[in-house]
Amino acid sequence: MPAIFALAPAKIILFGEHAVVYGRPAIAVPVTQVRAKAVITPNPLSPPGIVLIDAPNIGLNAQLENLPVSHPLRVVVACVLKTLRVITPPSLTIRITSTIPLASGLGSGTAVSVAIIRALSAYLGKPLPEPEVSELAYQVEKIYHGNPSGIDNSVITYAKPVFFIRNQPIQFIDVTHPFTLMIGDTGIKSPTSSVVEKVHKSWHTNPSVYESIFDKIGGITVEGKEAVQSGNSLILGQLLNRNHALLQELGVSSPELDHLVRIALEAGALGAKLSGGGQGGNMIALVEPTTASKIERILQDNGAVRTIITSIGKVGQPV
Ligand code: MEV
Repeated sequence: MPAIFALAPAKIILFGEHAVVYGRPAIAVPVTQVRAKAVITPNPLSPPGIVLIDAPNIGLNAQLENLPVSHPLRVVVACVLKTLRVITPPSLTIRITSTIPLASGLGSGTAVSVAIIRALSAYLGKPLPEPEVSELAYQVEKIYHGNPSGIDNSVITYAKPVFFIRNQPIQFIDVTHPFTLMIGDTGIKSPTSSVVEKVHKSWHTNPSVYESIFDKIGGITVEGKEAVQSGNSLILGQLLNRNHALLQELGVSSPELDHLVRIALEAGALGAKLSGGGQGGNMIALVEPTTASKIERILQDNGAVRTIITSIGKVGQPV
């Protein structure tokens, strides 16, 4: 059996994070410059059923059954085997590598799940179709993230811009006017699940205030979809700024995110906001292609530990 590999990209949320958990729409786009990769190779010398996990990024090299039952990688593999009704897989090694920064709002964990689900199902001769890959990745997320909306597994599986409403069919957005985004990392790790949980507690204490903020964010997302489709970058920039202000009201920004957002705007970005769970992780800024390098340098000089320039809607960016 030859080695099989699969890839999955990172993602950013353009509009609507957190509000999407409460049924409002959100827009997410794939980021193909960074990605997770799963490679499956046979271990012909080991007996059937032995699965080795090699994940050098997190210093893990172990037999699957020696990991805690709740370990995310063990859970993903178990979900795939159960779905495919494989009781004893052939002996194999799953090597996982990723260039997506961890716990920074770029969907690193989901991308690893998607890559493993794809590679392992193909290796076992039963490649899963995209809707099932996405659904399985969602089931895995639910175990760790409590209450995920499903947007991350959708955008990462399909690797296309999505307009997403929880429990509704995914709408793909056809971006005919490409635009350039700068992603700036505060370097502060912030697991999405804890921020989602914090918002939930605040919502529970004060539902009317939070529902009203979610409504406003939902409205911005709908306007954002139109601006993306019509290629109106000035409006798009303003909407990003308004979304950031509402995320500040939700209490999910941080001084470091606000700082990078302000620096990007002062450097000439058309709009900027935090992206993902918040309280750390990444911010995004809409930039003109001609000023992208200048703004990138300024962000790096002012605390961004990593920057990625990505063009949304450009063809020819394979995952
Ligand atoms: C995470 O990328 C986006 C959040 O809205 C959580 C979710 O939708 O599951 C913060």
